[in-house]
Amino acid sequence: MKTRKNNNLPIFVVVFSIFLFGIFMYNEDVKSIAEFPFSTPKAQELQEDESKQSNPVQESKQSNPGQETKENTPVQETKQSDSVQETKPSEIQHRVSLSSRAQLEETQLENSSEETQEPVDLKSITEKDDEQKIELLGSQQPEEEEEEEEIELPPEDCDLFNGDWVFDPVTHPLYKEDECEFLTAQVTCMRNGRKDSLYQHWRWQPRDCNLPKFNARLLLEKLRNKRLMFVGDSLNRNQWESMICFAQSIIPSGRKNLTKNGSLSVFRIEDYNATVEFYWAPFLVESNSDDPLMHSILNRIIMPKSIKKHGENWKGVDFLIFNTYIWWMNTFKMKVLRGSFDQGATEFDEIERPVAYRKVMRTWAKWVDKNIDPNRTTVFFTSMSPLHIKSLDWDNPDGIKCAKETTPVLNATTPLEVGTDRRLFVIASNITRSMKVPVYFLNITTLSEFRKDAHTSVHTIRQGKMLTPEQQADPETYADCIHWCLPGLPDTWNEFLYTRIISRS
Ligand SMILES: *[C@@H]1O[C@H](CO)[C@@H](O)[C@H](O)[C@H]1NC(C)=O
Ligand SMILES: *[C@@H]1O[C@H](CO)[C@@H](O)[C@H](O)[C@H]1NC(C)=O
Ligand SMILES: *[C@@H]1O[C@H](CO)[C@@H](O)[C@H](O)[C@H]1NC(C)=O
Ligand SMILES: *[C@@H]1O[C@H](CO)[C@@H](O)[C@H](O)[C@H]1NC(C)=O
Ligand SMILES: *[C@@H]1O[C@H](CO)[C@@H](O)[C@H](O)[C@H]1NC(C)=O
Ligand SMILES: *[C@@H]1O[C@H](CO)[C@@H](O)[C@H](O)[C@H]1NC(C)=O
Ligand SMILES: *[C@@H]1O[C@H](CO)[C@@H](O)[C@H](O)[C@H]1NC(C)=O
Ligand SMILES: *[C@@H]1O[C@H](CO)[C@@H](O)[C@H](O)[C@H]1NC(C)=O
Repeated sequence: MKTRKNNNLPIFVVVFSIFLFGIFMYNEDVKSIAEFPFSTPKAQELQEDESKQSNPVQESKQSNPGQETKENTPVQETKQSDSVQETKPSEIQHRVSLSSRAQLEETQLENSSEETQEPVDLKSITEKDDEQKIELLGSQQPEEEEEEEEIELPPEDCDLFNGDWVFDPVTHPLYKEDECEFLTAQVTCMRNGRKDSLYQHWRWQPRDCNLPKFNARLLLEKLRNKRLMFVGDSLNRNQWESMICFAQSIIPSGRKNLTKNGSLSVFRIEDYNATVEFYWAPFLVESNSDDPLMHSILNRIIMPKSIKKHGENWKGVDFLIFNTYIWWMNTFKMKVLRGSFDQGATEFDEIERPVAYRKVMRTWAKWVDKNIDPNRTTVFFTSMSPLHIKSLDWDNPDGIKCAKETTPVLNATTPLEVGTDRRLFVIASNITRSMKVPVYFLNITTLSEFRKDAHTSVHTIRQGKMLTPEQQADPETYADCIHWCLPGLPDTWNEFLYTRIISRS
């Protein structure tokens, strides 16, 4: 087996050096919030009160964040999340304005997102020869003979999430876009007209160990007679689609199929009696956004204690992968229902985002501890998937959101802060650590923050329809800098999942 250490790779070796979470200065972000149609009056008041103030959160991260940094970061962030009341307005302002835009995008995208399943007319898309050459060079499907090959597992205590992005067209992507018929038009960026394909070739290299080589047959053996289910929002659906491509490559057509019924989508692999499923529950708990077809609801209201109804659908599943984040980002306060939707309640309280998030995470944790048999089921929680909506965040004054980006952030000379609400990260990381049932925390946030190049941008669909050339020419309005192309970044998230699945059992 080829060694996969960076220094043996012919192409680039990329080392991220120092990046500081830094000082947030008043900028045009603040202006943009005023134009945002959904921002609350409070947000605007705040904005007027504030002129220049530095972000109270100043964190430093070292190039080799080891144990120390690992300990430090949560603690520092903890202060932040514990002091919601004292959070400085400038910080809120920053978050709100970023998240407002996020919400705008998500809203546009989420409305009738199920229509994304519409097949694309392959013939109508022009082939791009040179791009394909790169792809041929780049992708090597798991081969038959590798079946018997010894798979080298990383040590249990290796931190897989600390490392670097390495350009590696030999091993990545792990599958080809046009060889995975189950990909929806939302994510097939090349087919949708993206010209550069470099984003498919980056491999995550943990600092202290190697990720095992991907082997579809081994994965399917582990999934035999089992169910694997992603539960959450459209980012988890993004990851689910990637997982389907992982699993389906060695299965002949006719022996696999995808069915949908309400909130649940099931990909079945006949010969292994295995399923890879997705359950739509963007807040995990009950909310007015639970309808999988019509879930673009601006006025999002949750029932933070109600999870049973959804939970019924998760029982007996062998691998559960949860997430919840993007739907929290539209307002900095969350609307919490007084009573129950079933009983026609409409009144709600508005609660600070992190406070409501913690309530929901506690409800979820309690449900898991009560209903999951850890001897049977492995539980994962995926940390927040970041957005890239402001190119000045990575120092590109000529950028338009994520639309012009073709490489990851490789040298963060300025602090890399793309607006992720780290308060929620700390809550999720803390709660998953303190449960009776062990939960494997897929810590994908920081490593994904570097991937400004990997979003679907204008090479996607909107409200079920491919963007028109005119819309594609207007990324400021239409670029989706939330979701990710496939093959692409979510494959890496699944490499972590795969590693865990084959390491256990
Ligand atoms: C998550 O991973 C990043 C590096 O990608 C690291 O800096 C951070 O400490 C990790 N956090 C947790 C909670 O493991
Ligand atoms: C997170 O965990 C740390 C240490 O376990 C604890 O001190 C802190 O209060 C927790 N913070 C939150 C926000 O739960
Ligand atoms: C097929 O998989 C289901 C779901 O995991 C399981 O309950 C059932 O026992 C399996 N069937 C056989 C024949 O093993
Ligand atoms: C998909 O698989 C299910 C379960 O085996 C089967 O009942 C159904 O007929 C299949 N559908 C298609 C379209 O093949
Ligand atoms: C869809 O799900 C509902 C309940 O969740 C169930 O009653 C129904 O039989 C399912 N339909 C199909 C076609 O599987
Ligand atoms: C979803 O989009 C359609 C237009 O495609 C619009 O008529 C409808 O009001 C939207 N629904 C919501 C809930 O935003
Ligand atoms: C899990 O298995 C272990 C050993 O096989 C057993 O001691 C334990 O009681 C089991 N736990 C549950 C919750 O069934
Ligand atoms: C990062 O870029 C700056 C200039 O933009 C340069 O001075 C510095 O040496 C670079 N650092 C690395 C590690 O490449």
